Amino acid sequence: MSQPDAAADPLDGAVIDARLHALAAFTDVPGQMTRLSLSPSHKAAAGQVADWFRAAGLEGVHLDGTGSVVGRYAADRADAPTLILGSHIDTVRNAGIYDGNLGVLVALAAVEALNRSGRRLPVAVEVVAFADEEGVRFLSTLSSSRALAGTFDPACLDEPDASGITRRAALEAFGAPVEAISGLARDPARTLGYVEVHIEQGPVLEECGAPLGIVTGIAGASRARVVVRGQAGHSGTLPMVLRQDALTAAAEMVLAVEARGGRDVAPESLVATVGLLEVPGSAVNVVPGEVRFSLDVRASDDGVRKAAVTDISDAITAIAARRGVAAEIVWGHDAPATPCDPDLRARLEAAAATLGLDAPSLASGAGHDAMVFRGIMPMAMLFVRSRNGSHNPREAAEAADIGLAARTLHAFLLGLGA
Ligand code: GLV
Ligand code: MN
Ligand code: MN
Repeated sequence: MSQPDAAADPLDGAVIDARLHALAAFTDVPGQMTRLSLSPSHKAAAGQVADWFRAAGLEGVHLDGTGSVVGRYAADRADAPTLILGSHIDTVRNAGIYDGNLGVLVALAAVEALNRSGRRLPVAVEVVAFADEEGVRFLSTLSSSRALAGTFDPACLDEPDASGITRRAALEAFGAPVEAISGLARDPARTLGYVEVHIEQGPVLEECGAPLGIVTGIAGASRARVVVRGQAGHSGTLPMVLRQDALTAAAEMVLAVEARGGRDVAPESLVATVGLLEVPGSAVNVVPGEVRFSLDVRASDDGVRKAAVTDISDAITAIAARRGVAAEIVWGHDAPATPCDPDLRARLEAAAATLGLDAPSLASGAGHDAMVFRGIMPMAMLFVRSRNGSHNPREAAEAADIGLAARTLHAFLLGLGA
């Protein structure tokens, strides 16, 4: 396991970037960044992160019941409240190396810098590498952060992945103490809030030439799985008029999703996506009998999102009826839009200003662990300028910008003690 260089400045962006590249070696698929939640490579990455946590001066480093790596930097007094810093280390398939991982390693760097200088704050700082942010493997998502927020749904333990492995079985294989999940909720009265650093995953900061931005709020999201069932048949013998082709029906449904997503434009920033489509048992000479696809609908206004969800469900049902196929829609993940806390935002802005940075405010279209703390404790996010979007291997962030984020977070922490 690679250890931090004792001589290097932990807040140096190049040092953090080197760790990001080292962590990227933990992948399910050699040659690409694929680290699905609770996979063997996730387990190995969690081990590396735990080692770095310990070397940085975090105490009580452990895997919690949902698979998160958790460590604590004690306060200068016994009765101090706790601030939680975190992000996630699971990834989508063929991901970039910065989504999630950057936030964990920047938080680690900020605390490491405190520890190096022997500085204790009037708040304890907990650093968390969440295990379930991307929602690629199981239908529901954010179970790790929800456990801290006190909104973990035990039913998600029985959810199977595509190969029938339940979340409970995956957690047990991961070595997570599942039986301890119910005790993970943090006491909001004893918790100052949650702060997450993340790459922007969009073009706004790049366009305005700013290395860092302060997030105003996170868009709400609804996700579903759809199964379309028609009738499989011989592609040579089944006349066109007699077909119940699940794939052509699904094609029309996908276009309906795109059309509804594009109907309302900013400021609600509605988007609707079919990101996954499967034709099980497909072959060149078979009229498809079954198709499965995903739905992902997001907006910064919950009313706009819910209206789109209703319309999309109705459109799919109508297309299925007209084409003589069945469509089953199971809505799973449902997260409301989440505003960031004004006081934490102002503190992040002031911290950036100590570096001479004027960090603009911007909304987050992507989902984050931070959103589960809505209505439970104050939450804020610091975005780092990134290139080439996200959820693809071209996703990138400059080491210099990562360093500015680490220095800003460090200044923010020092500000809590001022
Ligand atoms: C997570 O990255 C999401 O927004 O889907
Ligand atoms: Mn992320
Ligand atoms: Mn992501």
